[in-house]
Amino acid sequence: MKTKKPIAIVTGAGAGIGLSICKELGAKGFFVIGAEQNPDRLHPNLENCEMLQLDVSDSVAVGSFIDHVIAKFGTPMACINNAGIIHRAPITKTNPDEFQRVIQVNLVGTYNLTHFFANALIKAGASGHIVNLSSGHAVLAGFNRAAYAASKAGIEALTRNSALELGKHGILVNAIAPGFTKTEMSSQSLVGDKLEKVKERLPIGRVAESQEVATTVHTLITGKIPYLTGQVIRIDGGWSNSDINYEL
Ligand code: NAI
Repeated sequence: MKTKKPIAIVTGAGAGIGLSICKELGAKGFFVIGAEQNPDRLHPNLENCEMLQLDVSDSVAVGSFIDHVIAKFGTPMACINNAGIIHRAPITKTNPDEFQRVIQVNLVGTYNLTHFFANALIKAGASGHIVNLSSGHAVLAGFNRAAYAASKAGIEALTRNSALELGKHGILVNAIAPGFTKTEMSSQSLVGDKLEKVKERLPIGRVAESQEVATTVHTLITGKIPYLTGQVIRIDGGWSNSDINYEL
């Protein structure tokens, strides 16, 4: 089923921020291809959205996924690399497999989509947008976050380098680094006292809704900031300028 709507790929689409991005783009004129690893989260009835099962860390599967999307729906104009996992443990208690899995999903997964998506656009002579989900932890040290922080710092470097190389092809690459955002991922650590302390010390005084991140994605891929590439937008309520750390 080819579509006339602009097509956006969203990874990690089945929950949290990814699901909000699918809803936001689907309601605002896009046709969304959601890529989600968990088969129980494929949301068959979402408006203007088709979800396919994909593990972003599997490069062969990602290559086939991009070919399939183009053959069935048309060439996408945006790729939102949102899929991510977290591992919370001190570096001394993080085993090599756990460390590698976080890097494999968050960083290698973002590379996989960027590589195949950018090649497809260049081959088609099409311009487009890549938006990568980073985190405040890319630049702020936090206890029990070493693997996650390393993966997100890598994503910010990948964003700058991809932007440098892809600009001449009309492909803009930026990252969004959310702060404390209400989702399943954050619900494991942002509870009770800790949540209250964070809210008290955040300059904006509250945590974010995933919808607020989705709106930022929409702004970027609809060309409202056409001269922006290789940048990280820290939509974090002021966290990166505050005195909050993860010893809380
Ligand atoms: P979440 O855990 O609520 O949802 C993530 C989704 O990605 C899930 O549906 C999960 O099944 C899927 N997923 C996981 N591994 C996958 C894989 N290998 N392939 C495809 N899909 C996969 O997470 P949340 O909170 O919505 O986070 C989304 C992104 O935003 C992540 O990259 C996260 O690191 C980032 N972020 C989130 C923050 C927060 O406070 N929630 C703060 C800063 C960054």
